[in-house]
Amino acid sequence: MELRSDDVVAVIGAGAMGSGIAQIAAVAGHRVIVIDRDADALGRGRTLLGDGLAALVERGKLSAATADQALKAVEWAHDPAAVARARLIIEAVVERADVKEALFETLGAWLSPEAILATNTSSLSVADLARAAPRPERFLGLHFFNPAPAMKLVEVVAGPKTAPEILSAATALMRSWGKHPVAARDVPGFIVNRVARPFYAEGFAALEEGLAPSDIDRALTGAGGFRMGPLALADLIGHDVNYAVACSIHAAYEGRTRFRPQPAQARLVETGMLGRKSGRGVYAYPAEKSTAAGSAPAGLLATTLAVAADPGELAPLVALAERAGLNIAPDAGLPPATIMVNGVRMAAGDGRRLAARGGLSALLDPPRDWSAGATLAFTATDTVSAKVVAGFARAIGKSPLLLPDRPGQMVLRTLVQLANAAADAVVDEASDERGVDDAMVHGAGHPQGPLAWARAYGFERVAAVLSHLAEETGDALYAPSPLFSSSLETLDD
Ligand code: NAI
Repeated sequence: MELRSDDVVAVIGAGAMGSGIAQIAAVAGHRVIVIDRDADALGRGRTLLGDGLAALVERGKLSAATADQALKAVEWAHDPAAVARARLIIEAVVERADVKEALFETLGAWLSPEAILATNTSSLSVADLARAAPRPERFLGLHFFNPAPAMKLVEVVAGPKTAPEILSAATALMRSWGKHPVAARDVPGFIVNRVARPFYAEGFAALEEGLAPSDIDRALTGAGGFRMGPLALADLIGHDVNYAVACSIHAAYEGRTRFRPQPAQARLVETGMLGRKSGRGVYAYPAEKSTAAGSAPAGLLATTLAVAADPGELAPLVALAERAGLNIAPDAGLPPATIMVNGVRMAAGDGRRLAARGGLSALLDPPRDWSAGATLAFTATDTVSAKVVAGFARAIGKSPLLLPDRPGQMVLRTLVQLANAAADAVVDEASDERGVDDAMVHGAGHPQGPLAWARAYGFERVAAVLSHLAEETGDALYAPSPLFSSSLETLDD
């Protein structure tokens, strides 16, 4: 069984998602019928689709002729009977089980025996919806991401009775649409919505502790390698939407600590500070001036870098320093993985506070990649040490970011918690390691899969950082996933 570009595709719901999915199908050469019960929504959907195509033409991604053809290939209908002509029907109506179930009941009278019905639900159980589907063996989840034309990922979710050939036909079709399909099991949040939680949760936890929002975001972009920081991104998504996802996943997992929503975000929702759309969220819009200056102390000139016989993970920083023309002075008296500038000894963070690490004046927050990244985030015991580290950062071409002494600091703490959520998803069989990583790259725009990062960092080290975090915060939120704790046991043996 195969779906082809001359098959008619029907999309039900002309909202943000439905019109985006219709656009993709039309560009892929299908005749498309968009159905919505609300005439105004159909009008808005048509505008959204037209604007979407025009933007692609403007960016040179689509010829004007193809865009015109795609626009003409889309029909806008009010009556669900129009699905009778479609081979694939993608449902993208409001996220309410009762509405979707009632719709499926109506569709039963019209669907052709050959038709495949898919739901774009992001949080409802595909198995529960399948019970209301006219032919559960021809029903599945195709979870697109917003904005659908731009985001490559489609989570392909089988219901309990979905026929294997239906799954493979839908997967092949998504590929032919230029999408990146990943098989996801029917668990709450599928892959991306559950694995992405710590990115926001860690941002809000730091905000709650009083860190400056711009410092939090700068740490994650400049050193974490993310395109946007968690707070700016949540402002963009809307805190009402983002918090609702957090709550629904928390509820679906029966209050599992790992999915605990953040009180700091709840307060934003309660006070109507919903983000960009309400003109005020964590930040004010139009954008306020960055307050980052206070977190970047004036530097003291660094000329010589003393380096332990084995610089360990700091070797790339030593290489940068060498390239920047600093004198590199081997110092056999320094413990492994330690460097020293102007008498200030520093090492990489490992989940513990600086105060818990003897003999150090500064901790460098491990970035995604020591060689790349514009920012060097760190913690120091005192102002003079902070100035020395800031001077060193500038000398090697990075912008310094002083953070308070908190367990795991900001970057490493977020990276290990994302890896922890990804590992949990593998343990719960939401997908396999590769699927989880692909989903985070293509659906959440992460620069690297969380487990690929964890593999490179070392599962045992991730487990050790998480154990330190769990110990120092006293919070079960940081308990290492069984995928990592088994590596820790191996290490202990
Ligand atoms: P939306 O609220 O923008 O659009 C829903 C549309 O469905 C409305 O135009 C409404 O008039 C129409 N509708 C409602 N009941 C209908 C019915 N019985 N028959 C025909 N039309 C009906 O919603 P949005 O954001 O486009 O979401 C749609 C679906 O996609 C939901 O299941 C949502 O969870 C899912 N989704 C949403 C994402 C997002 O970021 N907005 C991302 C991924 C999935």
